Amino acid sequence: MEKEMQEREAELRAALGVAETEAALEEIRIRYLGRQGEIPRQLASLSALPPEQRREAGRAINRFKAWAEAAIEERRGSLASAHPRGPSLDPTLPGRPVPEGSIHPVSRMSRRIVEIFHRLGFALADGPEVETEFYNFDALNTPPDHPARNEQDTFFLKDPGLLPATPSRGGGRLLLRSQTSPVQIRAMERRRPPIRIFAPGRCYRRDEIDATHSIAFFQVEGLVVEEDTSLLDLKGTLELVFGELLGPETRFRFRPHYFPFTEPSFEIDGLRPGRSKAGKEWLELCGCGMVHPKVLSGVGIDPDRYSGFAFGFGIERLLMIVEEVPDLRLFTENDIRFLRNQSSPA
Ligand code: DAH
Repeated sequence: MEKEMQEREAELRAALGVAETEAALEEIRIRYLGRQGEIPRQLASLSALPPEQRREAGRAINRFKAWAEAAIEERRGSLASAHPRGPSLDPTLPGRPVPEGSIHPVSRMSRRIVEIFHRLGFALADGPEVETEFYNFDALNTPPDHPARNEQDTFFLKDPGLLPATPSRGGGRLLLRSQTSPVQIRAMERRRPPIRIFAPGRCYRRDEIDATHSIAFFQVEGLVVEEDTSLLDLKGTLELVFGELLGPETRFRFRPHYFPFTEPSFEIDGLRPGRSKAGKEWLELCGCGMVHPKVLSGVGIDPDRYSGFAFGFGIERLLMIVEEVPDLRLFTENDIRFLRNQSSPA
């Protein structure tokens, strides 16, 4: 019996040596110590032995049993310290996706616009969103009784005391700029011709909010003042810009219009064959014109020597055309489904 137990011990030792998991160890424990296991079976077989051999055999089996229990426990301990408990890593599982942000459509379009104007040699300009009546209206030759100055149309600020000092010339009430055109004035005050700037930025108007009206939106302003700019430069520049934005097949028409700060003034309409409804719809794209001599002289630029052209257009409006966005409100509602569909990663 002693010999047999030695063989069993060698077997068990070998089995424990290759048991790498808790489950494998448990299987071994059951095989030896479980109710139907090797050791209980050996103990049961004692009764078949002649009485004089039983005691010795019983001792050998019990010694083996005690050793086996200790050996299994020891192995369990070494497994546990090699693989501490806790979430185990399964490298075969697919990775968890990290949610990826996307560029807002307005930002994306702004970047495109910035890229195009930079290529044409325009410098990026900027101005405050809190403006004075002077920059937003007077310096732009807007008559005192112009409807846009109405409190129904423009956000005037009631308590200017709370606001950071806005550099102002001419003064007047403080307001949220209703257009990016005041940047023209600020740019001309800051530098002398030749001037070639563009200025994307947010504007505010007191409108009823609906699918095509918003109280806050983005415009891009443009201004060129040089020694001999003409309507031809205006036309060539804007046809190029909108051709890039809307596609080379787009047709344009310049429709006479009125803006206080340009003379003559136009609105540019675009027609995108095969794209817009029945390909026959002229879409309003941009206001523009030759800078009014009064605007130039107002900032100390001699209108007899210099001439200029200016333009302004809405970014959301352009997106509604280019990407067929049906409702302006989608740009500010933060509906992730819209933002994902319209945007591509940077
Ligand atoms: N500021 C005008 C608007 O908000 C757009 C505009 C028209 C800008 C003609 C210009 C321009 O610079 O020349 O409707």
